[in-house]
Amino acid sequence: MHGDVRVLFVCLGNICRSPMAEAVFRNRVKEEGLSEHVCVSSCGTGDWHVGSPPHKGTRHLLDQKGISYDGMRAKQLDADEIESYDYIVAMDRQNVADLIDAGVPQERINLLSDFISDKRGLEVPDPYFHDNFDVVYELVDQGSEGLLRHILASQEVRT
Ligand code: 4NP
Repeated sequence: MHGDVRVLFVCLGNICRSPMAEAVFRNRVKEEGLSEHVCVSSCGTGDWHVGSPPHKGTRHLLDQKGISYDGMRAKQLDADEIESYDYIVAMDRQNVADLIDAGVPQERINLLSDFISDKRGLEVPDPYFHDNFDVVYELVDQGSEGLLRHILASQEVRT
């Protein structure tokens, strides 16, 4: 995978939150004409859903917004790949703890809410049991915007 900047979204199952973040962020990157420069992926810390498409709640939201999730399938975290990413963006503190357990240095990990100025420290709630995909989408949308602004301001992207 190429790209000046490489972003990996991480959640537990890689079927609800992080695939939504991958699709929404990739769509924003495309709208900015930066697809050649920013590589976007996602994974889960757990392996239960490996190979599955995004959850129907995530698909429903993305369909509503006209955002593609074509070909996306759940993957489990590969700790050996982590070094190749510039941004490792977790949804909640359990994801952060699991990443640290897998050997990822804490200082390399962000929460998605770190990129939402009035919501720093907030966790993206797990919608798997609560069906609150709307709440997840709002945070993913705001976090994607904030992350893109951060990347552009840091001038890591060569345009
Ligand atoms: P995600 O949601 O981490 O946002 O993909 C979940 C998906 C599956 C499970 C939990 C959360 N699960 O327990 O199987």
